[in-house]
Amino acid sequence: MSPAFPLAPERASSVAPEVDALFLFILGVTGIVALGIWVVMLYFAIRYRRRSADDRPPVIEGSLALELTWTIIPLLLMGVMFVWGSKVFFHLNRPPDDAMTVSVVGKRWMWKLQHPTGQREVNELHVPVGRAVKLVITSEDTIHSFFVPAFRIKKDAVPGRYNLAWFQATKTGAYHLFCAEYCGTEHSKMIGRVVVMEPEEYQVWLAGGPAPESPVLQGEKLFTDLNCITCHRMDDAGRGPLLKGIFGRTVKLASGEEIVADAAYVRESILTPAAKVVAGYQPVMPAFQGQVNEEQVLALIAYIESLRTPTPSAPASPAAARTQARGASTR
Ligand code: CUA
Repeated sequence: MSPAFPLAPERASSVAPEVDALFLFILGVTGIVALGIWVVMLYFAIRYRRRSADDRPPVIEGSLALELTWTIIPLLLMGVMFVWGSKVFFHLNRPPDDAMTVSVVGKRWMWKLQHPTGQREVNELHVPVGRAVKLVITSEDTIHSFFVPAFRIKKDAVPGRYNLAWFQATKTGAYHLFCAEYCGTEHSKMIGRVVVMEPEEYQVWLAGGPAPESPVLQGEKLFTDLNCITCHRMDDAGRGPLLKGIFGRTVKLASGEEIVADAAYVRESILTPAAKVVAGYQPVMPAFQGQVNEEQVLALIAYIESLRTPTPSAPASPAAARTQARGASTR
């Protein structure tokens, strides 16, 4: 492949060879079929052309063998594409358990990213090579799409949803990041790069710049600042449901319905609390729609998720409890 005219973007992630192999297979099969059809069309046009004004072709009743052949062969080919495609699809959509989580918020017209340790970046993402990175992608306004061709990942950033993508970079370097969904005037400028570094370099990069606060700590602070804590007390005497241990659990709603308290439910409960009230509670919580941005919502979710850890023995200090909780939330 000539570097002056590359036919495919660089392959810099663990899934890139898989995606390319499938793509080339489908391209090959469809290319051969298309070529075959053109050749047959041309041949038939010449071979069976009308030779005189009273030329009448013989009547053909059909052929079972032919019908079966052109049904079964495409069926088998499609079957291979389907099974192989599903395999790659599931691999692309199931982040490994030990992945580090980076939150991604699309906003007209920039990408805002946050590392698990709290560092924030705009239009640039630094990651260590060889480490699985899980992206939790959402949008502040309209639909965007997070696209890194060298990693073969593209995932929509949809307002009100948390979409997951992941990659494991296999090569150091800087790779293009695009917005792949038309999102307004400056869509074409909504670009950036992913910088893949050696793990030691990444640690140095993390240590540089002002000491960040982890999303859990930011969320905890917001929880106090927004007065959530007055109703969601740490004992069960509050006016709101006890949040300790709630994340990931099934809760019963006033409507009788049961729902898993995942990130999407927590988000909805912060922004429009009246939508799904927990059984046994009054819909008294004010809506925070328009008062907190998506990054703050993510911090609050990180904090509530950190409360999930069951503490078998009382931790030595609140700081120790937090560290423990953070470990659990990234697992
Ligand atoms: Cu954001 Cu296009």
